[in-house]
Amino acid sequence: MIQVNNVLKRYKHVEALKGISFEVKKGEILGFLGPNGAGKTTLMRILTGFFPPTSGEVLINGKDIEKETLAIQRSIGYLPENVPLYYEMRVQHFLQYVAAIKGVSRKDRPKEIERVVRECGLFDVERRQIKTLSKGYKQRVGLAQALIGNPDVIILDEPTTGLDPKQIIEIRSLIKNMAGNKTVILSTHILPEVSVICDRVIIINEGNIVAIDTPHNLEKRLKQGQDIVVLVKGDQHKVEDELFKIEGVTGIVVKECNEGVYEYVVSSKEGIDVRGTLAKNVAQKYELLELRMSRLSLEDIFVKLVTKENEIQEIK
Ligand SMILES: Nc1ncnc2c1ncn2[C@@H]1O[C@H](COP(=O)(O)OP(=O)(O)O)[C@@H](O)[C@H]1O
Ligand SMILES: [Mg+2]
Repeated sequence: MIQVNNVLKRYKHVEALKGISFEVKKGEILGFLGPNGAGKTTLMRILTGFFPPTSGEVLINGKDIEKETLAIQRSIGYLPENVPLYYEMRVQHFLQYVAAIKGVSRKDRPKEIERVVRECGLFDVERRQIKTLSKGYKQRVGLAQALIGNPDVIILDEPTTGLDPKQIIEIRSLIKNMAGNKTVILSTHILPEVSVICDRVIIINEGNIVAIDTPHNLEKRLKQGQDIVVLVKGDQHKVEDELFKIEGVTGIVVKECNEGVYEYVVSSKEGIDVRGTLAKNVAQKYELLELRMSRLSLEDIFVKLVTKENEIQEIK
């Protein structure tokens, strides 16, 4: 559906994208995850034909975005980083205006507007001026304008940034509901967001792709050499000494839970499973209350990926 081939973007002094390639399948929800300045917005602007890449190409349904920009733009709904809303306009009029720009025929406009108003839950505010709406509702209006004309591809640049937790949940479920018949690409620097919404994640850092995978696989891929969490009742320093005696243990982080009970996060050399020895040795002398693998969150993965970029290239 979307093919990105070796896209490079150079601003005056910055190479914002350093030659990246990937594909997006039809009906997929794809997340761009990366810290601020990673190049997410730049990439989205190129995908929507807002400006061309310095080199490389973007094909949407086999068509080159640079050559057939206007035609392709009609099949793309775009929610930019800073939603361009006309604050003086009423929601209804704004949506009519967008429908006209997007080439929805006069006859089809009322039906089309009714549809996006329903999908985005804007019924109660349809007659309000945009400037009087809460940030969450403004974002819904932004989403509604992206949906007008029923585009196959929806591109959303940080759709939940600046919203409160309740609004975030609402916007996320709106996005999830689009899945299946639409291809959705969204960017975020918020990690839990991608595991909640996306089928696949592209992690971008400093203009490079550092990983492409499902949230589930990303977690799995980095499980080797994973930390173990143990909860032990007993003298902290003695337990620590005991843990350090175990072959393969490389580090310990301690946190007090209750009086006399400490949580130890034990890291070990990759490929060595220390759990058996650890359980045996500790339980001989102390009360071992719990032993578990620490669940690697996407957040941990993200930190690993962006800090160990070279190693990751090998995994790929
Ligand atoms: N119009 C521009 N002119 C010059 N540099 C830019 C421009 N837009 C973005 N950049 C730079 O390109 C890099 C990527 O920015 P951006 O695509 O906005 O990242 P993100 O959306 O991931 O935060 C940053 O270093 C940023 O400063
Ligand atoms: Mg951005």
